[in-house]
Amino acid sequence: MLMSTHGIRDFRPRLHFTAPSMWLNDPNGLVYKDGVYHLFYQYHPGSTDWGPMHWGHAVSRDLIRWTHLPIALYPDSLGTIFSGSAVWDADNTSGLGAMGQAPLVAVYTQDLQGPARRVGRKQHQSLAYSLDGINFIKYQENPVIPCPDKPRKREDEEPLFDESRPADLRSFDTAANKSSKEPLFQPGQIDFRDPKVFRSSTGKSWGLVLCSGDYAEFFNSPDLIHWTKSGEFGPFKDGILSKGVWECPDLLEFDTGEGIRHVLILSLALPSELGGSRTVYILGSYDGSAFRADPDEEPIWLDWGFDNYAGVTFDNADDKILIGWAGNWKYSALTPTTDYCGAMTLARKLELKKTPAGWRLFSAPVGLGSCIRGLRNLRNQDVITSEVFGIALDGDGDCRAAFASPAGQTLSVEIKDGMLYFDRSNAGDTGFSEEFAQDYFSRRSAPRCFSGPWHMDIIFDVSHVEIFLDGGTIAMSGTVYPDTPYTRISLEGCTNARYMDFI
Ligand code: FRU
Repeated sequence: MLMSTHGIRDFRPRLHFTAPSMWLNDPNGLVYKDGVYHLFYQYHPGSTDWGPMHWGHAVSRDLIRWTHLPIALYPDSLGTIFSGSAVWDADNTSGLGAMGQAPLVAVYTQDLQGPARRVGRKQHQSLAYSLDGINFIKYQENPVIPCPDKPRKREDEEPLFDESRPADLRSFDTAANKSSKEPLFQPGQIDFRDPKVFRSSTGKSWGLVLCSGDYAEFFNSPDLIHWTKSGEFGPFKDGILSKGVWECPDLLEFDTGEGIRHVLILSLALPSELGGSRTVYILGSYDGSAFRADPDEEPIWLDWGFDNYAGVTFDNADDKILIGWAGNWKYSALTPTTDYCGAMTLARKLELKKTPAGWRLFSAPVGLGSCIRGLRNLRNQDVITSEVFGIALDGDGDCRAAFASPAGQTLSVEIKDGMLYFDRSNAGDTGFSEEFAQDYFSRRSAPRCFSGPWHMDIIFDVSHVEIFLDGGTIAMSGTVYPDTPYTRISLEGCTNARYMDFI
Protein backbone atom coordinates (compact mmCIF):
# COMPACT_ATOMS: atom_id res chain seq x y z
CA MET A 1 0.00 0.00 0.00
CA LEU A 2 1.16 3.52 -0.77
CA MET A 3 1.72 5.47 2.40
CA SER A 4 0.64 9.06 2.57
CA THR A 5 2.81 12.04 3.25
CA HIS A 6 0.44 14.10 5.40
CA GLY A 7 -2.55 12.03 6.50
CA ILE A 8 -2.55 8.92 8.65
CA ARG A 9 -2.30 6.74 5.57
CA ASP A 10 -3.43 6.63 1.96
CA PHE A 11 -7.22 6.93 1.87
CA ARG A 12 -7.53 7.33 -1.88
CA PRO A 13 -10.41 5.15 -3.11
CA ARG A 14 -9.98 2.98 -6.21
CA LEU A 15 -13.51 2.50 -7.51
CA HIS A 16 -14.54 6.08 -6.79
CA PHE A 17 -13.20 8.81 -9.05
CA THR A 18 -10.60 11.19 -7.60
CA ALA A 19 -8.62 13.99 -9.27
CA PRO A 20 -4.91 13.32 -9.91
CA SER A 21 -4.26 15.70 -7.01
CA MET A 22 -5.76 18.73 -5.25
CA TRP A 23 -9.35 19.74 -4.46
CA LEU A 24 -12.46 18.45 -6.21
CA ASN A 25 -16.17 18.95 -5.58
CA ASP A 26 -19.29 18.72 -7.80
CA PRO A 27 -19.46 16.62 -10.96
CA ASN A 28 -20.15 18.88 -13.95
CA GLY A 29 -20.98 18.52 -17.62
CA LEU A 30 -21.78 14.80 -17.47
CA VAL A 31 -22.28 13.73 -21.06
CA TYR A 32 -22.08 10.47 -23.01
CA LYS A 33 -20.90 10.36 -26.59
CA ASP A 34 -19.57 7.62 -28.87
CA GLY A 35 -19.19 5.09 -26.07
CA VAL A 36 -17.36 7.52 -23.81
CA TYR A 37 -18.59 9.07 -20.56
CA HIS A 38 -17.23 12.57 -19.97
CA LEU A 39 -16.89 13.71 -16.37
CA PHE A 40 -16.02 17.34 -15.80
CA TYR A 41 -15.72 18.47 -12.22
CA GLN A 42 -15.25 21.42 -9.90
CA TYR A 43 -11.50 21.56 -9.54
CA HIS A 44 -9.02 23.75 -7.74
CA PRO A 45 -5.62 22.85 -9.18
CA GLY A 46 -3.89 25.20 -6.71
CA SER A 47 -4.55 23.44 -3.41
CA THR A 48 -6.34 20.68 -1.55
CA ASP A 49 -8.93 23.21 -0.37
CA TRP A 50 -11.66 24.94 -2.35
CA GLY A 51 -10.42 27.94 -4.36
CA PRO A 52 -10.83 29.54 -7.79
CA MET A 53 -12.81 26.94 -9.65
CA HIS A 54 -11.89 25.31 -12.96
CA TRP A 55 -13.48 22.39 -14.78
CA GLY A 56 -11.31 19.30 -14.50
CA HIS A 57 -11.98 16.58 -17.07
CA ALA A 58 -11.78 12.80 -17.30
CA VAL A 59 -13.28 10.15 -19.58
CA SER A 60 -14.28 6.53 -19.12
CA ARG A 61 -15.95 3.70 -21.00
CA ASP A 62 -17.12 1.80 -17.91
CA LEU A 63 -17.61 4.57 -15.30
CA ILE A 64 -14.94 2.99 -13.06
CA ARG A 65 -11.63 3.34 -14.91
CA TRP A 66 -11.03 6.97 -15.82
CA THR A 67 -8.45 8.67 -18.01
CA HIS A 68 -7.50 12.16 -16.87
CA LEU A 69 -7.53 14.88 -19.52
CA PRO A 70 -6.27 18.48 -19.41
CA ILE A 71 -8.32 21.08 -17.53
CA ALA A 72 -11.25 21.97 -19.80
CA LEU A 73 -12.23 25.43 -18.55
CA TYR A 74 -10.14 28.10 -16.80
CA PRO A 75 -11.42 31.23 -15.02
CA ASP A 76 -11.61 34.40 -17.13
CA SER A 77 -12.69 38.03 -16.78
CA LEU A 78 -16.32 36.95 -16.21
CA GLY A 79 -15.34 34.90 -13.20
CA THR A 80 -14.34 31.48 -12.02
CA ILE A 81 -16.01 28.38 -13.44
CA PHE A 82 -18.74 27.02 -11.21
CA SER A 83 -21.02 24.05 -11.74
CA GLY A 84 -22.96 23.42 -14.92
CA SER A 85 -23.80 20.84 -17.53
CA ALA A 86 -22.91 19.74 -21.04
CA VAL A 87 -24.96 18.32 -23.88
CA TRP A 88 -24.20 16.64 -27.16
CA ASP A 89 -25.78 18.97 -29.74
CA ALA A 90 -26.10 16.26 -32.39
CA ASP A 91 -28.30 18.36 -34.70
CA ASN A 92 -26.02 21.36 -34.36
CA THR A 93 -28.95 23.48 -33.13
CA SER A 94 -26.38 25.91 -31.75
CA GLY A 95 -24.70 26.35 -35.11
CA LEU A 96 -21.40 26.03 -33.25
CA GLY A 97 -20.43 22.86 -35.07
CA ALA A 98 -17.98 23.04 -37.96
CA MET A 99 -16.88 20.84 -40.81
CA GLY A 100 -19.49 18.18 -40.12
CA GLN A 101 -18.62 18.01 -36.41
CA ALA A 102 -21.53 18.58 -34.03
CA PRO A 103 -20.40 20.23 -30.82
CA LEU A 104 -20.41 19.31 -27.15
CA VAL A 105 -21.95 22.39 -25.55
CA ALA A 106 -21.27 23.28 -21.92
CA VAL A 107 -23.38 25.79 -19.98
CA TYR A 108 -21.90 26.74 -16.62
CA THR A 109 -21.97 29.40 -13.96
CA GLN A 110 -19.31 32.07 -13.79
CA ASP A 111 -18.80 33.42 -10.32
CA LEU A 112 -17.60 36.99 -10.15
CA GLN A 113 -16.65 38.43 -6.82
CA GLY A 114 -17.11 42.10 -6.07
CA PRO A 115 -14.00 44.28 -5.69
CA ALA A 116 -14.09 43.83 -1.96
CA ARG A 117 -15.04 40.40 -0.75
CA ARG A 118 -17.96 41.70 1.30
CA VAL A 119 -19.51 43.59 -1.58
CA GLY A 120 -21.08 40.35 -2.73
CA ARG A 121 -20.80 38.26 -5.81
CA LYS A 122 -22.56 37.91 -9.10
CA GLN A 123 -23.28 34.72 -10.95
CA HIS A 124 -23.86 34.52 -14.70
CA GLN A 125 -24.39 31.55 -17.00
CA SER A 126 -21.85 31.17 -19.79
CA LEU A 127 -21.35 28.78 -22.69
CA ALA A 128 -18.37 26.99 -24.18
CA TYR A 129 -18.23 24.35 -26.90
CA SER A 130 -15.90 21.68 -28.12
CA LEU A 131 -15.54 19.88 -31.42
CA ASP A 132 -13.11 17.23 -30.20
CA GLY A 133 -14.52 16.69 -26.69
CA ILE A 134 -11.26 17.93 -25.16
CA ASN A 135 -10.54 21.52 -26.13
CA PHE A 136 -13.21 24.10 -25.42
CA ILE A 137 -13.86 27.44 -27.06
CA LYS A 138 -15.68 30.01 -24.94
CA TYR A 139 -18.64 31.62 -26.65
CA GLN A 140 -17.69 35.18 -27.57
CA GLU A 141 -20.86 36.80 -26.33
CA ASN A 142 -20.93 35.29 -22.86
CA PRO A 143 -22.83 35.36 -20.60
CA VAL A 144 -25.81 33.66 -22.24
CA ILE A 145 -27.96 34.10 -19.11
CA PRO A 146 -26.81 37.20 -17.27
CA CYS A 147 -27.20 37.69 -13.57
CA PRO A 148 -30.49 39.34 -12.59
CA ASP A 149 -30.06 42.95 -11.53
CA LYS A 150 -31.24 42.49 -7.99
CA PRO A 151 -31.60 39.55 -5.73
CA ARG A 152 -35.27 38.70 -5.61
CA LYS A 153 -36.83 39.75 -2.33
CA ARG A 154 -39.93 38.08 -1.12
CA GLU A 155 -42.32 40.23 0.84
CA ASP A 156 -42.61 37.66 3.51
CA GLU A 157 -38.90 37.04 3.56
CA GLU A 158 -37.48 36.26 6.92
CA PRO A 159 -33.76 35.93 7.25
CA LEU A 160 -32.73 32.31 6.95
CA PHE A 161 -29.59 31.26 8.72
CA ASP A 162 -26.92 29.09 7.33
CA GLU A 163 -25.14 27.96 10.44
CA SER A 164 -21.89 26.87 8.98
CA ARG A 165 -21.20 28.49 5.68
CA PRO A 166 -18.58 31.09 6.44
CA ALA A 167 -19.33 34.72 6.83
CA ASP A 168 -17.33 36.35 4.06
CA LEU A 169 -17.44 33.77 1.33
CA ARG A 170 -20.74 32.35 2.48
CA SER A 171 -20.97 28.96 0.87
CA PHE A 172 -17.47 28.52 -0.27
CA ASP A 173 -14.76 29.06 2.32
CA THR A 174 -14.91 25.50 3.46
CA ALA A 175 -11.88 25.29 5.69
CA ALA A 176 -13.19 28.06 7.91
CA ASN A 177 -16.37 26.06 8.37
CA LYS A 178 -17.31 27.69 11.64
CA SER A 179 -20.78 28.49 12.80
CA SER A 180 -21.92 31.99 12.12
CA LYS A 181 -25.41 33.40 12.46
CA GLU A 182 -25.28 35.21 9.17
CA PRO A 183 -28.36 35.72 7.04
CA LEU A 184 -28.56 33.19 4.26
CA PHE A 185 -29.08 35.95 1.73
CA GLN A 186 -26.27 38.47 1.85
CA PRO A 187 -26.74 42.03 0.68
CA GLY A 188 -25.54 42.26 -2.88
CA GLN A 189 -25.01 38.56 -3.20
CA ILE A 190 -26.86 36.81 -5.92
CA ASP A 191 -27.18 33.04 -5.84
CA PHE A 192 -27.99 32.20 -9.43
CA ARG A 193 -26.18 29.12 -10.51
CA ASP A 194 -25.66 25.53 -11.60
CA PRO A 195 -27.54 25.37 -14.95
CA LYS A 196 -28.59 21.88 -16.00
CA VAL A 197 -29.62 21.60 -19.64
CA PHE A 198 -32.08 18.78 -20.27
CA ARG A 199 -34.17 17.27 -23.03
CA SER A 200 -37.84 16.60 -22.50
CA SER A 201 -40.50 15.01 -24.66
CA THR A 202 -42.81 17.80 -23.46
CA GLY A 203 -40.66 20.69 -24.61
CA LYS A 204 -39.84 21.19 -28.27
CA SER A 205 -36.58 22.90 -27.50
CA TRP A 206 -33.82 22.59 -24.94
CA GLY A 207 -34.81 23.02 -21.30
CA LEU A 208 -32.61 24.41 -18.54
CA VAL A 209 -33.10 24.56 -14.80
CA LEU A 210 -30.91 26.53 -12.39
CA CYS A 211 -31.11 27.47 -8.74
CA SER A 212 -31.75 31.01 -7.65
CA GLY A 213 -31.37 31.19 -3.88
CA ASP A 214 -34.20 29.13 -2.48
CA TYR A 215 -36.13 28.45 -5.66
CA ALA A 216 -35.50 27.10 -9.16
CA GLU A 217 -35.87 28.89 -12.49
CA PHE A 218 -36.68 27.17 -15.78
CA PHE A 219 -35.62 28.35 -19.23
CA ASN A 220 -36.11 27.23 -22.84
CA SER A 221 -33.92 27.68 -25.87
CA PRO A 222 -34.04 26.58 -29.51
CA ASP A 223 -30.26 26.75 -29.87
CA LEU A 224 -28.60 26.55 -26.40
CA ILE A 225 -27.53 30.20 -26.79
CA HIS A 226 -30.71 32.27 -26.51
CA TRP A 227 -32.60 31.41 -23.34
CA THR A 228 -36.08 32.57 -22.31
CA LYS A 229 -37.31 32.13 -18.79
CA SER A 230 -40.36 29.86 -18.78
CA GLY A 231 -41.21 29.24 -15.13
CA GLU A 232 -40.25 28.83 -11.50
CA PHE A 233 -40.53 26.26 -8.73
CA GLY A 234 -40.56 27.43 -5.11
CA PRO A 235 -39.76 29.10 -2.79
CA PHE A 236 -41.35 27.36 0.18
CA LYS A 237 -42.23 28.71 3.59
CA ASP A 238 -42.03 25.41 5.43
CA GLY A 239 -40.33 22.08 5.27
CA ILE A 240 -36.85 21.04 4.26
CA LEU A 241 -36.95 23.08 1.02
CA SER A 242 -37.17 26.27 3.10
CA LYS A 243 -34.07 25.53 5.15
CA GLY A 244 -31.21 26.48 2.87
CA VAL A 245 -29.93 27.67 -0.50
CA TRP A 246 -30.68 25.31 -3.39
CA GLU A 247 -27.89 24.12 -5.68
CA CYS A 248 -27.25 21.78 -8.60
CA PRO A 249 -30.74 20.91 -9.86
CA ASP A 250 -31.57 18.23 -12.41
CA LEU A 251 -34.84 17.38 -14.11
CA LEU A 252 -35.40 13.75 -15.08
CA GLU A 253 -38.10 12.33 -17.29
CA PHE A 254 -39.21 8.71 -16.89
CA ASP A 255 -41.52 6.71 -19.09
CA THR A 256 -42.91 4.51 -16.33
CA GLY A 257 -45.23 2.37 -18.41
CA GLU A 258 -48.03 4.26 -16.66
CA GLY A 259 -47.28 7.51 -18.38
CA ILE A 260 -44.47 10.05 -18.30
CA ARG A 261 -43.41 11.22 -14.86
CA HIS A 262 -40.82 13.80 -13.87
CA VAL A 263 -38.46 14.03 -10.94
CA LEU A 264 -36.71 17.21 -9.83
CA ILE A 265 -33.40 16.70 -8.04
CA LEU A 266 -32.21 19.49 -5.75
CA SER A 267 -29.12 19.76 -3.58
CA LEU A 268 -29.73 21.73 -0.40
CA ALA A 269 -27.20 23.64 1.68
CA LEU A 270 -28.72 22.79 5.06
CA PRO A 271 -27.65 23.55 8.61
CA SER A 272 -25.47 20.86 10.18
CA GLU A 273 -28.24 19.49 12.39
CA LEU A 274 -30.20 18.72 9.24
CA GLY A 275 -27.23 17.01 7.64
CA GLY A 276 -25.39 19.85 5.90
CA SER A 277 -25.07 19.09 2.21
CA ARG A 278 -27.94 16.83 1.20
CA THR A 279 -29.87 16.04 -1.96
CA VAL A 280 -33.59 15.45 -2.34
CA TYR A 281 -35.87 14.45 -5.17
CA ILE A 282 -39.44 15.50 -5.73
CA LEU A 283 -42.05 13.70 -7.84
CA GLY A 284 -44.11 15.81 -10.16
CA SER A 285 -44.63 16.89 -13.72
CA TYR A 286 -42.91 19.23 -16.15
CA ASP A 287 -45.08 20.75 -18.87
CA GLY A 288 -42.37 22.26 -21.02
CA SER A 289 -42.20 25.46 -18.98
CA ALA A 290 -42.12 24.64 -15.27
CA PHE A 291 -42.08 21.79 -12.80
CA ARG A 292 -44.99 21.22 -10.43
CA ALA A 293 -44.78 18.81 -7.52
CA ASP A 294 -47.49 16.18 -7.31
CA PRO A 295 -50.05 16.99 -4.62
CA ASP A 296 -49.05 15.67 -1.19
CA GLU A 297 -45.60 14.60 -2.34
CA GLU A 298 -42.83 15.40 0.11
CA PRO A 299 -39.18 15.67 -0.90
CA ILE A 300 -37.38 12.35 -0.47
CA TRP A 301 -33.66 11.96 0.26
CA LEU A 302 -31.80 10.79 -2.80
CA ASP A 303 -29.24 9.32 -0.42
CA TRP A 304 -29.89 8.89 3.29
CA GLY A 305 -26.18 8.97 4.21
CA PHE A 306 -23.67 11.76 4.77
CA ASP A 307 -21.62 12.15 1.62
CA ASN A 308 -23.52 12.41 -1.64
CA TYR A 309 -24.10 15.95 -2.85
CA ALA A 310 -24.61 17.92 -6.07
CA GLY A 311 -25.42 14.75 -8.02
CA VAL A 312 -26.63 15.11 -11.60
CA THR A 313 -27.20 12.74 -14.53
CA PHE A 314 -25.48 12.18 -17.88
CA ASP A 315 -26.87 13.78 -20.99
CA ASN A 316 -27.39 11.54 -24.01
CA ALA A 317 -27.02 8.20 -22.16
CA ASP A 318 -29.71 5.53 -22.60
CA ASP A 319 -30.11 5.20 -18.84
CA LYS A 320 -30.39 7.85 -16.17
CA ILE A 321 -26.94 7.63 -14.62
CA LEU A 322 -26.11 9.92 -11.73
CA ILE A 323 -22.78 10.80 -10.15
CA GLY A 324 -22.55 12.92 -6.99
CA TRP A 325 -19.74 14.53 -5.02
CA ALA A 326 -18.98 12.09 -2.19
CA GLY A 327 -18.49 14.95 0.22
CA ASN A 328 -20.18 17.42 2.53
CA TRP A 329 -19.39 21.13 2.79
CA LYS A 330 -19.48 20.85 6.57
CA TYR A 331 -16.21 18.96 6.85
CA SER A 332 -14.84 17.71 3.53
CA ALA A 333 -12.02 20.26 3.32
CA LEU A 334 -10.68 18.93 6.61
CA THR A 335 -10.68 15.21 5.83
CA PRO A 336 -7.33 13.47 6.41
CA THR A 337 -6.54 12.78 2.78
CA THR A 338 -3.16 13.68 1.40
CA ASP A 339 -2.33 15.11 -2.00
CA TYR A 340 -5.98 15.02 -3.06
CA CYS A 341 -9.22 16.06 -1.41
CA GLY A 342 -12.60 14.86 -2.59
CA ALA A 343 -14.06 11.98 -4.60
CA MET A 344 -17.16 11.24 -6.62
CA THR A 345 -19.79 8.68 -5.66
CA LEU A 346 -20.03 5.55 -7.75
CA ALA A 347 -22.11 6.10 -10.86
CA ARG A 348 -25.67 4.99 -10.17
CA LYS A 349 -28.43 4.00 -12.56
CA LEU A 350 -31.73 5.55 -11.48
CA GLU A 351 -35.11 4.05 -12.22
CA LEU A 352 -38.54 5.22 -11.10
CA LYS A 353 -40.80 2.43 -9.86
CA LYS A 354 -43.76 1.90 -7.62
CA THR A 355 -43.27 0.61 -4.07
CA PRO A 356 -45.79 0.05 -1.27
CA ALA A 357 -44.73 3.50 -0.04
CA GLY A 358 -45.34 5.19 -3.40
CA TRP A 359 -43.15 5.95 -6.42
CA ARG A 360 -39.47 5.85 -5.57
CA LEU A 361 -36.12 6.21 -7.31
CA PHE A 362 -34.25 2.90 -7.30
CA SER A 363 -30.50 3.35 -7.58
CA ALA A 364 -27.89 0.74 -8.45
CA PRO A 365 -24.14 1.16 -8.88
CA VAL A 366 -22.96 0.80 -12.47
CA GLY A 367 -19.84 -0.89 -13.83
CA LEU A 368 -18.76 -2.99 -10.84
CA GLY A 369 -19.30 -6.32 -12.59
CA SER A 370 -16.08 -6.01 -14.54
CA CYS A 371 -14.12 -5.30 -11.32
CA ILE A 372 -14.92 -8.53 -9.49
CA ARG A 373 -11.71 -10.49 -8.93
CA GLY A 374 -13.04 -13.12 -6.55
CA LEU A 375 -16.41 -14.21 -5.27
CA ARG A 376 -17.08 -16.42 -2.24
CA ASN A 377 -19.60 -17.13 0.45
CA LEU A 378 -19.16 -15.10 3.57
CA ARG A 379 -19.44 -16.30 7.15
CA ASN A 380 -19.67 -14.56 10.46
CA GLN A 381 -16.20 -13.45 11.64
CA ASP A 382 -14.62 -13.92 8.21
CA VAL A 383 -11.29 -12.25 7.68
CA ILE A 384 -10.98 -9.59 4.97
CA THR A 385 -7.68 -8.86 3.33
CA SER A 386 -8.69 -6.17 0.88
CA GLU A 387 -9.69 -2.55 1.25
CA VAL A 388 -11.86 -2.66 -1.86
CA PHE A 389 -14.69 -5.15 -1.64
CA GLY A 390 -18.43 -5.65 -1.79
CA ILE A 391 -20.78 -7.78 0.24
CA ALA A 392 -24.21 -8.90 -0.93
CA LEU A 393 -26.59 -9.94 1.83
CA ASP A 394 -30.07 -11.42 1.93
CA GLY A 395 -32.34 -11.75 4.91
CA ASP A 396 -35.88 -11.72 6.17
CA GLY A 397 -35.72 -9.93 9.50
CA ASP A 398 -33.27 -8.01 11.62
CA CYS A 399 -29.61 -8.14 10.65
CA ARG A 400 -26.29 -6.58 11.58
CA ALA A 401 -23.11 -6.38 9.51
CA ALA A 402 -20.01 -4.77 10.95
CA PHE A 403 -16.47 -4.23 9.69
CA ALA A 404 -13.85 -4.09 12.44
CA SER A 405 -10.18 -3.21 12.58
CA PRO A 406 -7.66 -4.77 14.99
CA ALA A 407 -7.60 -1.41 16.80
CA GLY A 408 -11.30 -1.83 17.61
CA GLN A 409 -12.73 0.66 15.12
CA THR A 410 -16.06 -0.55 13.74
CA LEU A 411 -18.38 0.48 10.96
CA SER A 412 -21.83 -0.98 11.40
CA VAL A 413 -24.92 -1.39 9.26
CA GLU A 414 -28.13 -2.72 10.77
CA ILE A 415 -31.64 -3.58 9.66
CA LYS A 416 -34.03 -3.49 12.59
CA ASP A 417 -37.80 -3.18 12.80
CA GLY A 418 -38.13 -1.99 9.21
CA MET A 419 -35.35 0.61 9.45
CA LEU A 420 -31.82 0.74 8.05
CA TYR A 421 -29.16 2.11 10.43
CA PHE A 422 -25.67 3.25 9.50
CA ASP A 423 -23.22 4.07 12.29
CA ARG A 424 -19.77 5.51 11.62
CA SER A 425 -19.31 7.05 15.09
CA ASN A 426 -16.40 4.70 15.89
CA ALA A 427 -15.44 3.75 12.35
CA GLY A 428 -12.15 5.64 12.27
CA ASP A 429 -10.58 9.04 12.74
CA THR A 430 -13.16 11.71 13.58
CA GLY A 431 -10.82 14.24 15.18
CA PHE A 432 -10.04 16.21 12.02
CA SER A 433 -13.30 18.16 12.25
CA GLU A 434 -15.57 19.05 15.13
CA GLU A 435 -18.53 18.64 12.84
CA PHE A 436 -17.63 15.17 11.60
CA ALA A 437 -17.62 13.87 15.17
CA GLN A 438 -21.09 15.25 15.96
CA ASP A 439 -23.95 12.83 16.36
CA TYR A 440 -25.74 14.14 13.28
CA PHE A 441 -22.73 13.27 11.17
CA SER A 442 -22.22 9.89 12.90
CA ARG A 443 -25.48 8.00 12.59
CA ARG A 444 -28.19 7.85 9.98
CA SER A 445 -31.38 5.83 9.64
CA ALA A 446 -34.02 5.33 6.96
CA PRO A 447 -37.40 3.62 6.83
CA ARG A 448 -37.79 0.77 4.35
CA CYS A 449 -40.39 1.10 1.59
CA PHE A 450 -40.98 -2.66 1.70
CA SER A 451 -41.63 -5.22 4.41
CA GLY A 452 -40.44 -8.84 4.43
CA PRO A 453 -37.35 -10.26 2.72
CA TRP A 454 -34.62 -7.87 1.71
CA HIS A 455 -31.41 -7.71 -0.30
CA MET A 456 -28.57 -5.34 0.57
CA ASP A 457 -25.31 -4.54 -1.22
CA ILE A 458 -22.50 -2.81 0.63
CA ILE A 459 -19.57 -1.51 -1.41
CA PHE A 460 -16.45 -0.60 0.53
CA ASP A 461 -13.64 1.34 -1.13
CA VAL A 462 -10.77 2.27 1.26
CA SER A 463 -12.53 5.29 2.79
CA HIS A 464 -15.91 5.29 1.04
CA VAL A 465 -18.87 3.08 1.79
CA GLU A 466 -22.10 2.92 -0.20
CA ILE A 467 -25.09 0.87 0.91
CA PHE A 468 -28.02 -0.09 -1.32
CA LEU A 469 -31.06 -1.73 0.29
CA ASP A 470 -34.25 -3.00 -1.38
CA GLY A 471 -33.16 -2.30 -4.96
CA GLY A 472 -31.58 0.98 -3.92
CA THR A 473 -34.82 2.56 -2.70
CA ILE A 474 -32.59 3.31 0.25
CA ALA A 475 -29.04 4.35 -0.58
CA MET A 476 -26.64 5.49 2.12
CA SER A 477 -23.15 6.81 1.44
CA GLY A 478 -20.45 7.89 3.81
CA THR A 479 -16.75 8.46 4.16
CA VAL A 480 -14.77 6.78 6.94
CA TYR A 481 -11.10 7.04 7.89
CA PRO A 482 -10.12 3.88 9.82
CA ASP A 483 -6.62 4.17 11.34
CA THR A 484 -5.83 0.73 9.95
CA PRO A 485 -7.86 -1.25 7.41
CA TYR A 486 -10.80 -3.32 8.62
CA THR A 487 -9.83 -6.99 8.80
CA ARG A 488 -12.93 -8.76 10.08
CA ILE A 489 -16.60 -8.87 9.19
CA SER A 490 -19.20 -9.87 11.73
CA LEU A 491 -22.62 -10.90 10.45
CA GLU A 492 -25.82 -11.65 12.26
CA GLY A 493 -29.24 -12.42 10.84
CA CYS A 494 -28.47 -13.00 7.13
CA THR A 495 -29.84 -15.96 5.21
CA ASN A 496 -27.23 -15.61 2.49
CA ALA A 497 -24.00 -13.64 2.31
CA ARG A 498 -21.46 -13.29 -0.47
CA TYR A 499 -18.16 -11.45 -0.62
CA MET A 500 -16.56 -9.89 -3.70
CA ASP A 501 -12.99 -8.73 -4.08
CA PHE A 502 -12.88 -5.78 -6.44
CA ILE A 503 -10.40 -4.29 -8.91
C1 FRU B 1 -22.32 22.90 -4.83
C2 FRU B 1 -21.69 24.24 -5.19
C3 FRU B 1 -22.39 24.84 -6.40
C4 FRU B 1 -21.34 25.73 -6.99
C5 FRU B 1 -20.08 24.94 -6.74
C6 FRU B 1 -18.88 25.79 -6.44
O1 FRU B 1 -21.48 22.08 -4.08
O2 FRU B 1 -21.74 25.09 -4.07
O3 FRU B 1 -23.59 25.53 -6.09
O4 FRU B 1 -21.54 25.96 -8.35
O5 FRU B 1 -20.34 24.11 -5.62
O6 FRU B 1 -17.72 25.02 -6.39
